Amino acid sequence: MTTVPTEPTAAAAGANATAHFTSDKNPYEAVKDVPPSRVDTLAKRVLSAIHDTIREEKVTYEEYNALKAWLIQVGEDGEWPLFLDVWVEHVVEEVATEHREGSKGTIEGPYYVPDAPECAVNGVGTIPMRDDEQGTRLTWTGTVTATDGTPLENAKVELWHADNDGFYSQFEPSQPQWNLRGTFSVGEGGRFEITTIQPAPYQIPTDGSCGKLIAAAGWHAWRPAHLHVKVSAPGYELLTAQLYFPGDEHNDDDIASAVKPELILDPKPVGDGTATVDYGFVLDPAKG
Ligand code: DHB
Ligand code: FE
Repeated sequence: MTTVPTEPTAAAAGANATAHFTSDKNPYEAVKDVPPSRVDTLAKRVLSAIHDTIREEKVTYEEYNALKAWLIQVGEDGEWPLFLDVWVEHVVEEVATEHREGSKGTIEGPYYVPDAPECAVNGVGTIPMRDDEQGTRLTWTGTVTATDGTPLENAKVELWHADNDGFYSQFEPSQPQWNLRGTFSVGEGGRFEITTIQPAPYQIPTDGSCGKLIAAAGWHAWRPAHLHVKVSAPGYELLTAQLYFPGDEHNDDDIASAVKPELILDPKPVGDGTATVDYGFVLDPAKG
């Protein structure tokens, strides 16, 4: 089981992300029948890319030893999920979904938790939030359909996102367990209407080993504000996506390279300080 960290530090969030990843599933199960030739090919190609870099850049022993120490530290900080989801997952997602005709997806990131509470009645509901939850209220309407246009009435939209300070519940201590995490079963015609708040831009933890890499390389640690979703329906491919807000200064230089133009929302301010947005999903039929 996961433990909620006691402080919003990289080590606490990292340890928690690592615990979540390893407790949800056994990732080795899915590859247990992969033949040695595949492992041989992948391992040799990765090693060869490292060897080429060392030769071409004339990497020194000092640099090699710093790398060794840093790799050890990433493990000790529990930051492998964070490192991989920020700098590697976007390409895995690109390859995994290149055949799709339906909606574009993007990376899952390290902070998904399955089985968030059901929040919708006939497709309409509000995400769990604190009485004084900060951030612009957003009413989001949409429809889930198949690529052939059929409305998917047994679809569900799982939504999770950071709060107005950029923190995710269950990965920092101050929020209730399911804050800003909910499951919304769609209603008639595959329609849904979700009320939530607009999250803040998110900075990946800067006080751990990933932060050390970012500082040493002169990069920034920001992701644009985003809503995470998983949209599913029996017989259809699971869609994992993130939705972004126009005008965010990090839409063009997301540290996790996860923004796609199709994923940028078009919210409309309503006079009372809230906003509405319309955005639906199109799912591809499952293969085979
Ligand atoms: C990370 C955090 C996110 O919220 C996300 O969507 C992707 C990556 C991270 O800290 O690694
Ligand atoms: Fe995120």
